Amino acid sequence: MPHAPSRAGTPGASDTRTPAPLPDVREPPGAAAQRPGTALVTGASSGIGAAVARRLSAEGWRLVLNGRDAGRLAETAAHAAAAVFPEDLTRPAAERRLTRFALDEVGHLDLLVACAGVGWAGDFATMTRRAFDEVMEVNLLTTLRLVRQVLPHMVEAGSGRVVLVGSLAGAVGVRGEAVYSASKAAVAVFADALRHELRGTGVGVSLVVPGVVDTPFFERRGAPYARTRPRPVPPERVADAVWRAAVRGRDEVYVPAWLRLPVRVRGVAPGLYRRLAATFG
Ligand SMILES: NC(=O)c1ccc[n+]([C@@H]2O[C@H](COP(=O)([O-])OP(=O)(O)OC[C@H]3O[C@@H](n4cnc5c(N)ncnc54)[C@H](OP(=O)(O)O)[C@@H]3O)[C@@H](O)[C@H]2O)c1
Repeated sequence: MPHAPSRAGTPGASDTRTPAPLPDVREPPGAAAQRPGTALVTGASSGIGAAVARRLSAEGWRLVLNGRDAGRLAETAAHAAAAVFPEDLTRPAAERRLTRFALDEVGHLDLLVACAGVGWAGDFATMTRRAFDEVMEVNLLTTLRLVRQVLPHMVEAGSGRVVLVGSLAGAVGVRGEAVYSASKAAVAVFADALRHELRGTGVGVSLVVPGVVDTPFFERRGAPYARTRPRPVPPERVADAVWRAAVRGRDEVYVPAWLRLPVRVRGVAPGLYRRLAATFG
């Protein structure tokens, strides 16, 4: 059963129903940061999502947070004025309940940050059906379902932004992470297609593409990060990228930025890329 939704540090939040525009993307960063809005963040009970919640809260955004673990979600909310809605997003109609709760709490949504995700590592041939169903469902399907719920409200308001958290694995494909890579590649192409579709509506789509981030992700997937490069970055760095993508209207942000390079090499010289990948893993 989902835990009861609750509020922390948002006095009067549910009274405010007037849509507030996202900060103008042409504004300098300082000015944009002075005009925070409302945001729904998934995956906020851990790692990157929790860091995003802290960052947005520090900038003055009003938040609704989702994750499964009610205790850890409450911990995030203690550091970020927010209402919390702990629920497993794979449960039937969870995205509807979450969106309804968020709209009831903050009146409208300027920003959706879809961060919830799970990993799995190992040879594809050894992966159980249950494991790959979970990876595809959490990383791809629950994300699409939630965007489908939130988007009509943003389009009707004529403003808003969806920030999807992808992965470098979804851009180049990583050995031992075939299904995870496929799930994140699907999220990336979805972001591209949706961005085209929403042109002229006032609603934008950003894809944030982290490489390796120092979070419980690896421990939870049951396989530690074993490479030396790329070096893990702190989740706060990804949170900063999410914030920048949101307020400056960036389509795609790599964290760290140099990770765009292997993606470019793969695009222009796929043979060379495959040789390098075979040599350096
Ligand atoms: N860490 C990395 O190196 C890395 C790199 C690239 C991309 N990413 C992506 O970044 C995102 C966040 O990952 P992270 O590193 O912060 O991992 P994390 O610390 O393990 O956090 C994952 C979050 O997703 C939530 N979640 C998982 N399954 C869920 C479900 N069925 N329903 C609702 N929430 C669910 C978790 O909730 P509970 O904790 O409450 O279960 C948690 O809040 C993921 O999409 C991941 O694929 C991570």
